[in-house]
Amino acid sequence: MSGAVPVLTIDGPSGSGKGTIARRVAERLGWHLLDSGALYRLVALAARNSDLESTDEAAHARCAAGLDVRFSSTPAGDEQIWLKGQDVTAAIRTERAGDDASRVAVMPSVRAALLERQRAFAQPPGLVADGRDMGTVIFPDAEVKIFLTASPEERARRRHKQLKDKGLDVSLAALSREIAERDRRDSSRAVAPLVPASDALILDSTVMPIDDVVDQVLAVVRQRVG
Ligand code: C5P
Repeated sequence: MSGAVPVLTIDGPSGSGKGTIARRVAERLGWHLLDSGALYRLVALAARNSDLESTDEAAHARCAAGLDVRFSSTPAGDEQIWLKGQDVTAAIRTERAGDDASRVAVMPSVRAALLERQRAFAQPPGLVADGRDMGTVIFPDAEVKIFLTASPEERARRRHKQLKDKGLDVSLAALSREIAERDRRDSSRAVAPLVPASDALILDSTVMPIDDVVDQVLAVVRQRVG
């Protein structure tokens, strides 16, 4: 629960821009940031490193409960993520890591194992929480809830550009298929599916520049939290 610490949740599908927007809004407000997707990516990577059977939910839940992770930043301000003391910042950002993450994310006991770890990010002066179930399950009492969407074509195009900028050559058609499959898995799972909270403000970023979305989110936070 958000308790006395103000929480802004930003949920939405892959490529909706929520990661970038959450980071910028957190910077502007001076609030902490929870990138919950990174936790699912880390569980999937830790499970892969330990050669866990993909159907062994109990082993995945133990892996999630014992996740040895540290978040830091480079002197230039770029994020760094450490799993058992190893820098996995790049390794968890691949398409395969995202796909693996969405497979472990359907496991209810993995989600349960990550619940308190996520709530513990709510520290003064405030938290911006980015994910799929931030407003529905993890922080149902959040002061402000945003659900960010964009058309599937635009989301695939953005992801394609991101990967190209990192020097990775992936076909746009293949990416579109992967995004559609991940959307389907995230939206149809039994526990914490990707749906807007009933009290979420729905923003469509398809044609809105990122700076405008950031300004709009900041305006809502300032109006509600002061
Ligand atoms: O946001 P990101 O692409 O890093 O998330 C990777 C995957 O982790 C998502 O496709 C989703 O299956 C899962 N996830 C989740 N709940 C969250 C955040 C991410 O199920 N709160």
